[in-house]
Amino acid sequence: MNGSREGHPKRGKRGRSDMSFDDAYRDFLQRYPSYRQTESLDALRATEYRRLDDEGHVYLDYTGGSLYGVSQIERHKELLDSGVFGNPHSASPASSAMTEHVERARWHVLDFFHADPSEYVAIFTANATGALKLVGESYPFAPGGRFLLAFDNHNSVNGIREFAKAKGAEVDYAPLGTPELRLDRKRLDTLLAEADPAQANLFAYPAQSNFSGVKHPLELVKQAKARGWDVLLDAAAFVPTSRLDLGAVQPDFVTVSFYKMFGYPTGVGALLARRTALGKLRRPWFAGGTVNFVSVQGQAHVLSSSEAGFEDGTLNYLAIPAVEIGLLHLEAIGIETIGERVRCLSAWTIEQLLALRHGNGRAMVRIYGPIATECRGGTVTLNVYDPEGRLLDWRKIEELAKEQRISFRTGCFCNPGAGEMAEGLSEDDMRAAAREGERMNQGNFLGLLRTRGHKSAGSVRISFGLASNFSDARRLVEFVASFRDQSQLAVGEFTFDVDDCRMTRDGT
Ligand SMILES: Cc1ncc(COP(=O)(O)O)c(C=O)c1O
Repeated sequence: MNGSREGHPKRGKRGRSDMSFDDAYRDFLQRYPSYRQTESLDALRATEYRRLDDEGHVYLDYTGGSLYGVSQIERHKELLDSGVFGNPHSASPASSAMTEHVERARWHVLDFFHADPSEYVAIFTANATGALKLVGESYPFAPGGRFLLAFDNHNSVNGIREFAKAKGAEVDYAPLGTPELRLDRKRLDTLLAEADPAQANLFAYPAQSNFSGVKHPLELVKQAKARGWDVLLDAAAFVPTSRLDLGAVQPDFVTVSFYKMFGYPTGVGALLARRTALGKLRRPWFAGGTVNFVSVQGQAHVLSSSEAGFEDGTLNYLAIPAVEIGLLHLEAIGIETIGERVRCLSAWTIEQLLALRHGNGRAMVRIYGPIATECRGGTVTLNVYDPEGRLLDWRKIEELAKEQRISFRTGCFCNPGAGEMAEGLSEDDMRAAAREGERMNQGNFLGLLRTRGHKSAGSVRISFGLASNFSDARRLVEFVASFRDQSQLAVGEFTFDVDDCRMTRDGT
């Protein structure tokens, strides 16, 4: 049994892809009446995001990166035009003007997440990965201590295990149950109980999986802390469509990337850290901007004890004011409004995709993870099959989508654990791949899996966000429906290949 869901003929409602757009929209509104409460987003789509409709582009990769509204760019440009800005944190007028904007943005980040500044600090980083690495390299892992991870962590969290292992800590993964791909709570409870509270123990999990869209319970933060764990909540995929209230839930570390929340700027993320937890971190080095005192002759240094001790070198200071602009943009829309729209669109899409059938009655689509909307976000991961049940290669699906200006993500999404669970890959399969050493890449891995019972890896991921509308969802469903009664052979082979997480064209 793996983590996929197929529509069942008896349960499946008839797909609405054969209706006119107006009929389908009416039907959608009838079944998802709360969508009407999000109509303010249609007005924004026509102004802030009108390039989508001007280009006829269906953008469905919000988990990869959100889209910016044009006013964000205009406001940022106005700000940059309005003054002379220099490298912050010195006394010159150009520097102090910039410092003021950076500190205002920092304050706004804390405020947005309802983080009390006496409890939390906001550290600016290059992205969520940068924030995760800060924790990983500085956490006092040691023999006797533990690092516990959820199976569906992003690779930027998985990578922390290398720091933990190098320092002698025990590393464990908390498994997921199939087919929902939610944390197996019984097993998790057992693993959490194994910590010695006298040691340094870190539990890291995603508030929302970037693979399945599952929202893991935020209550786990309190439960884990009560058992002697520090908690690292990777909120990168959660905060673009859901409220994270650090007044109510208090992880020790929270990591985000701002482009995932509001599209612009790229290159800025944050680590929100509890001051008490920050005090436990031991940085392996110092850099420009991080020290209160440093001597060459004395070979001594004193790190700043606040956020400055973690911000290496010069910040992306011209981009940081755009974070405040983006947060204001999200606040004006309302994160709850975005969340509701995304919930309606993903629920409808899941239902429609599961209802798609080939002429012989076979399901066309498998969805990995939950098919109900409770405790899931707007990320839907799936594969498409031909009438004989043969997988249609996701690389080919992406190529065909491109011809129709539909953007979504394919592959493994830097989330190997969720993929292994969802697609029923065994430890033995993965060890066989690892034995290949440096020869192993994504193409060879897919080849190897074919020799091991015709298994597959990789899938199509669609994700909704703040500028999504019904038309996007409908076009996606129509696109998938176009594979009805198409055999694997007729659909044909892909013309690009993927070696790692980056795409290469044939012959380049
Ligand atoms: C859940 C999750 N964590 C971490 C990351 C890493 O984010 P970044 O690449 O911006 O550092 C991502 C990116 O997709 C993500 O989805």
